[in-house]
Amino acid sequence: MADEQVEQILVLVAERRGIDFRDYRRETLQRRARSRARAAGCRDLAAYRRMLDEDRDELDRLVETLVVPVTGFFRDAWAFRELADRVLPHLAARHPLLRAWVTGAASGEEAYTLAMLLAEASARQAGGGFEVIASDIDRPSLEIARAGVYPRQSVEGVPADLRVRYLRTDGSHVRVADWAHRRMRLAAMGTSMNRVSRTSPGASSNASHFSAVGTGGSGIHSHSPVRSCVWKRR
Ligand SMILES: C[S@@+](CC[C@H](N)C(=O)[O-])C[C@H]1O[C@@H](n2cnc3c(N)ncnc32)[C@H](O)[C@@H]1O
Repeated sequence: MADEQVEQILVLVAERRGIDFRDYRRETLQRRARSRARAAGCRDLAAYRRMLDEDRDELDRLVETLVVPVTGFFRDAWAFRELADRVLPHLAARHPLLRAWVTGAASGEEAYTLAMLLAEASARQAGGGFEVIASDIDRPSLEIARAGVYPRQSVEGVPADLRVRYLRTDGSHVRVADWAHRRMRLAAMGTSMNRVSRTSPGASSNASHFSAVGTGGSGIHSHSPVRSCVWKRR
């Protein structure tokens, strides 16, 4: 019964917001929908479903609860160190253009982290270059990524040498250096973890055209086997 209500809620979200959460684990969806229903004063999910029909603001709050747009620079420091030390030098030696796709990029911190590391790796190769594509279903988060401006305290985890090369201080904020900012492409799109190998931003390419695909965050709630992070090596 609760499952049926959650399905109906997902159909409504897909119709009204164009976001498909059907990949997500049902327990996660149910827990979050129930928590929103309680906060909105509804007796059960059926009453909450009726409320969502009328109340656009509540639909926005539900989507916000489901997407969890939390991120940070070098959030998983160990993974980025491994990538910088063991993976990217090998890829850069074989591919003049390093391309990476971050599928649930939120406000862009992970994508810019990756951009710094790709820039470092490609700079060591004659004629090397890089490009990062950042996609997300959450447009307000992508707008922050597009601006590339962040509070100073948010870059404390960025190694000092990279901070000097890639970030410009601007009062209480930092701005991603123009040349690195220009290498970032942004796309508002949802990604199904079951189909990540077949679809990607850019009509003619799929995930196999990228050196690296980071699914951190957009994959964690999925019930697909691809959950946290895929670094594709070619
Ligand atoms: C927890 S944040 C993680 C951000 C970043 N990848 C990181 O690891 O720091 C999860 C992001 O994934 C996005 N997301 C969730 N499901 C998605 C989907 N199916 N397609 C695209 N983006 C999705 C959310 O909007 C949110 O911005």
